[in-house]
Amino acid sequence: MTTNTTTHLGHLPTPFYYYDAELLEQTLAAAAAAARPGNYRIHYALKANANPGILRAICRHGFGADCVSGNEVAHAIRNGIAPSRVVYAGVGKSDREIALALREDIYCLNCESLPELEVIQQIAREQGKIARVALRVIPNVDAHTHRYITTGTEENKFGFTLDTLPRAISYCREASALQLIGLHFHIGSQITDMGAFRTLCERVNTIQADLQAQGITFPYLNLGGGLGIDYEHPDLHPIPDFERYFATFREHLRPLPGQEVHFELGRSLVAQCGRLITRVLYVKKGKNKDFVIVDAGMNDLLRPALYQARHHIENLTSNGPLSRYDVVGPICESSDSFGQDILLPATSRGDLIAIRSCGAYGEAMASRYNLRDLIQGYFSDALPISH
Ligand code: LLP
Repeated sequence: MTTNTTTHLGHLPTPFYYYDAELLEQTLAAAAAAARPGNYRIHYALKANANPGILRAICRHGFGADCVSGNEVAHAIRNGIAPSRVVYAGVGKSDREIALALREDIYCLNCESLPELEVIQQIAREQGKIARVALRVIPNVDAHTHRYITTGTEENKFGFTLDTLPRAISYCREASALQLIGLHFHIGSQITDMGAFRTLCERVNTIQADLQAQGITFPYLNLGGGLGIDYEHPDLHPIPDFERYFATFREHLRPLPGQEVHFELGRSLVAQCGRLITRVLYVKKGKNKDFVIVDAGMNDLLRPALYQARHHIENLTSNGPLSRYDVVGPICESSDSFGQDILLPATSRGDLIAIRSCGAYGEAMASRYNLRDLIQGYFSDALPISH
């Protein structure tokens, strides 16, 4: 960020999210270019960040939407994503949400249990529609990521195990209002080891080959999301290595002839373009450490408290000698901390602090805990003019 931008930001009430529109643009262009050789389609996982400014950029690049609630489905469509490019996943879709998805005629519902299929069948019949569905399969691949965000193993609540899959397939084939169009996989999030994706490809190949031997084939395959980003060095790796990610699938995945292959990337598309900008309220001397108390809290950025996630932290105002601080928020919980022993230039009241790599699962997970105001997001190309 340039000094000019920093001065510019100083006029906005803190805390807020700041999105670098140019980096977002470059990231989406890089992802689209890397997906092209495999003819892969990207559905942006709205849960990462549903800010309309982000969605406008997503639309410009022709991506679809991966949604996990009826409100996300409605929001995606309202913000310009064609229903034919919307997919909807989740273990607990309510009747109202299923009815909405069918009314909107979205591309596909990714289904996770037999009781869910029964309800979709019933609601589709009531609406006189045929519901396009895909079955989410647990491929039993350990993504070696945080246990809260790993989803591809049998200990998880998500999807069908390989044992329960045949029953689900035969149910769909008999159900008059269901059209089974594909299989869906998602093994977890913040995955940086391409080996996990390679294993996923191998499992998918085996599952598809077994089904094909029984005469069962699908036009659509969805490999989920999960590509990780570099939280430690956001400036070294501002754009994730989409080339390597999609090359792994090109090399190891064997889609059936004519099969459409979709991905549901969230974090990798939007994380690095976002910063949480917060102001130092107080610098407090502790017994053995100094605390920088900022005006953003765990309600604004939950990741450190919930997943022990570490985001790179910078002081945008000071360039004094370096010192170590714990950077903490104002919420009445000890977990309201953004980092321990963080090396920062000598910091004082009023300094602006940037917490990096916050474009994904930052604003989207913000709450009004402690009755604080819901945090706002601003885009670098649409900031109010300051004087
Ligand atoms: N598809 C499905 C079915 C998912 O469950 C998810 C994320 C995605 C796609 C997108 O994954 P991504 O490309 O963003 O890794 N709040 C956590 C992350 C939760 C991810 C949930 N599912 C965090 O802040 O790290």
